[in-house]
Amino acid sequence: MDTETREAIEPFLDFSLITQVLYPVKAGKEATVWACRAHPDTGTDLLAVKVYRHLRERSFRNDAVYQENRTQMYHNTRIRRAYENGSEFGLEVHFMLWVGQEWEALNRLHDAGVCVPRPVKQIGAAILMEFFGHQGGPCPTLQQAVVPPDRADALWSLLKANIEMMLQVNTVHGDLSPYNILVDLDEPSDPLRVIDVPQAVDARFNPNARQLLERDVATCHRYFERLGVRDDPRAFAADLWDRWRRAEL
Ligand SMILES: Nc1ncnc2c1ncn2[C@@H]1O[C@H](COP(=O)(O)OP(=O)(O)O)[C@@H](O)[C@H]1O
Ligand SMILES: [Mg+2]
Repeated sequence: MDTETREAIEPFLDFSLITQVLYPVKAGKEATVWACRAHPDTGTDLLAVKVYRHLRERSFRNDAVYQENRTQMYHNTRIRRAYENGSEFGLEVHFMLWVGQEWEALNRLHDAGVCVPRPVKQIGAAILMEFFGHQGGPCPTLQQAVVPPDRADALWSLLKANIEMMLQVNTVHGDLSPYNILVDLDEPSDPLRVIDVPQAVDARFNPNARQLLERDVATCHRYFERLGVRDDPRAFAADLWDRWRRAEL
């Protein structure tokens, strides 16, 4: 573990939210997720901490598509200019906003009943949340899992219900795919967690929201189609969008 990561995780130990860092679950380009032993007061055994990495030249997945109309919400003009002009300070601002956006989205979605990991605390560049897994290890992504075809219909229905719940709180995930869905096939009553939400957009303000919704639905449907699910993803997305626009979701 490098110094930056240790410093990012330390406050969770200091606040007695975790007692030990166990192992890295996955190191990605933007962030590394670690499995941690939870402090007994948290009421759970394990927690996950997602630590974002500072990079000199970040290629935020954001880009214009996700951020459109978002910077207008940052009223401080110095921050806004820095954010927009790609300076060193701008990268720093951009980085912290990105982490904050994931924290906010996680809370909003969790409050709305969406199957996301329960958010516990954000400190700086790190987010502490429910660990979706067991003592033996994390649950796989849908991409890695071997889903029996007879479970596919129920999982697809549940995923659609989650996409609908997200839109009920004006949120489109924007990067939804089998890589960002965890599945626990041993838990039929609660088998899914949608993860990785920093780029989630607000459908009221982002003009690309409808296209992102259609893409999210299409990408996930392709996965389930291979397992034999028959559905019309375009019709589903269109109906959802229509009902959302008429405030009938
Ligand atoms: N709450 C969690 N519980 C268990 N594993 C997780 C959790 N959150 C993320 N992971 C694991 O870490 C990986 C990376 O997390 P993710 O949020 O998708 O970040 P990124 O794709 O930006 O690296 C996931 O694919 C998953 O394997
Ligand atoms: Mg991911």
